[in-house]
Amino acid sequence: MKILVLGSGAREHAIVLALAEEDAGHELYAAPGNVGMATRAELVAIDPVDPAAVADFVADTAVDLVVIGPEAPLVAGVADTLRTRGVPVFGPGRAAAQLEGSKSFAKRVMDTAGVPTGRSVRAQTRAEVVDALARFGAPHVVKADGLAAGKGVLVTEDHDAALAHADAYLDAGAVLVEEFLTGPEVSLFFLSDGDAVLPLSPAQDYKRASDGDVGPNTGGMGAYSPLPWLRELFGSEQAFVDTVTHDIAEPVIRQLDAEGAPFIGLLYAGLILTEQGIKVIEFNARFGDPETQVVLPRLQTPLSGLLMAAASGRLDHEPRPQFSDDAVVTVVLASEGYPQAPITGRPVVGADAAASVDGVHLVHAATAVRDGDLVTAGGRVLGIVARGDSFTQARERAYRAVDEIEIEGGHHRRDIAAGVAEG
Ligand code: AMP
Ligand code: GLY
Repeated sequence: MKILVLGSGAREHAIVLALAEEDAGHELYAAPGNVGMATRAELVAIDPVDPAAVADFVADTAVDLVVIGPEAPLVAGVADTLRTRGVPVFGPGRAAAQLEGSKSFAKRVMDTAGVPTGRSVRAQTRAEVVDALARFGAPHVVKADGLAAGKGVLVTEDHDAALAHADAYLDAGAVLVEEFLTGPEVSLFFLSDGDAVLPLSPAQDYKRASDGDVGPNTGGMGAYSPLPWLRELFGSEQAFVDTVTHDIAEPVIRQLDAEGAPFIGLLYAGLILTEQGIKVIEFNARFGDPETQVVLPRLQTPLSGLLMAAASGRLDHEPRPQFSDDAVVTVVLASEGYPQAPITGRPVVGADAAASVDGVHLVHAATAVRDGDLVTAGGRVLGIVARGDSFTQARERAYRAVDEIEIEGGHHRRDIAAGVAEG
């Protein structure tokens, strides 16, 4: 197949690798892609948020399937344009992508579909924010209603900080004030063709910048999959996945379909396992980053077949995707200043040595080549992905590779998958 992947980060690199490793002879294209994936996919210099540019390239090149990585092209309506032209595309249209693009839309869909989530209030004025903060009490949870590149959420004990965070987003629209929920977090992905739903295997993301879950929220500093501890809580991973499929994914997909906004693509459920049961913290309308980097290496079913089945409304004929028992860990190497103000253009030294560690591969998040040398080009720079027979082995390999790499002023977490009991 000719497959075009839209996006330029580590998630898209992981998708390209999974497609390339099928050995099916796919012709892969990435727009704009990144230097890390250039050996596996032809890089195409088109703007992924320009629906007409993408559609023209697809027509000229006779692309069979388009896979949309990040949220921006979804919200820009790229999937809608491609579908109008009859192109199979994995990624929801603008209407269904609001599940990620608008937190209040997501809350309304969940409420209508009877899906468990935290109580919340949408506030448009400072007075409404003050009321809502008082109603739920501390710790306070304040979320920008629209897309905020992972920076829109503040969880804090500090009332003034909660208000200041709300102020920063009120000008542009509304905020959601939410009740504080506590428990382990799980990211679970579902493929959907708008009607049928197939779950992938769960992962856990590390959102805070620093070890021990302190520091600001980031796009994600590391992840691991599978989650052996789910067995203790639910008897088996399968039992957990079945519950979330039945109680959360299926009702939401049905609700969107009933509203004339079928969700064709990847439903990312960000879940929190509270004492009162599993609740949704957020939905995304795309693969998670960095969770994709640990889920796809375990996928044994060919990814292209699953994405094509979803894109063409045939998911109900597909068997459940199968996963290996490998332990997979990813550690993100970030630039100095990330997430507030990343410094770019710094040399990245040692990438080849890191990639030669047993069981390790690298995914590029934001790199560039300058005068023949690899340099940083954004906040999250590289992902080290390591697989092992156990988390002990995967972690040992991951951090051996991490220690080969030097980025002046860079930072990463040392506690990814630390203390995960072996399955
Ligand atoms: P989100 O962007 O909505 O996933 O939020 C980012 C992170 O903020 C989540 O992964 C949680 O760790 C935290 N968070 C979001 N909502 C809540 C909540 N209601 N209670 C506690 N923590 C939350
Ligand atoms: N890892 C969080 C996200 O992809 O939104």
